Amino acid sequence: MRPTKIILGSDHGGFALKQELREHLAHWGWEVEDIGCSTSQSVDYPDFAAAVAKKVAAGEAPFGLLVCGTGIGMCIAANKVRGVRAALCQETYSARMARAHNNANVLCIGGRVIGPELAREVLAAFLEASFEGERHQRRLEKISSMED
Ligand code: RB5
Repeated sequence: MRPTKIILGSDHGGFALKQELREHLAHWGWEVEDIGCSTSQSVDYPDFAAAVAKKVAAGEAPFGLLVCGTGIGMCIAANKVRGVRAALCQETYSARMARAHNNANVLCIGGRVIGPELAREVLAAFLEASFEGERHQRRLEKISSMED
């Protein structure tokens, strides 16, 4: 995909990895908005998940990236926001399929689970894949109907 904009968020458990991935994104030509956290001091991941998810849901960027210790808490919290399809991906196959079949718009990664090189590949796989539509669109509409 042609680089556009991505919004980043992390807690302290994902702070170091978020910093690394931000550098890669800039190198790849993406416009990056980093909403924090901005230190490795302890913070609450739902605050950052909500901020990123609301911006993506509002159309401020097509994608968001959330990093916490496991990626789990960020994923649970982001998926509470209507219109957000957050996927926890710790390897490249899931990252590609999250876009191709699930049209995920937020990628969640565990900064204490995978290393920076694999995380870079996961992020690249997610951003380079495209939604395949067709039968997958019908399934996503069924998920959307659960938000009503
Ligand atoms: C913080 O200690 C940790 O719970 C958080 O980063 C994340 O892993 C939650 O899912």
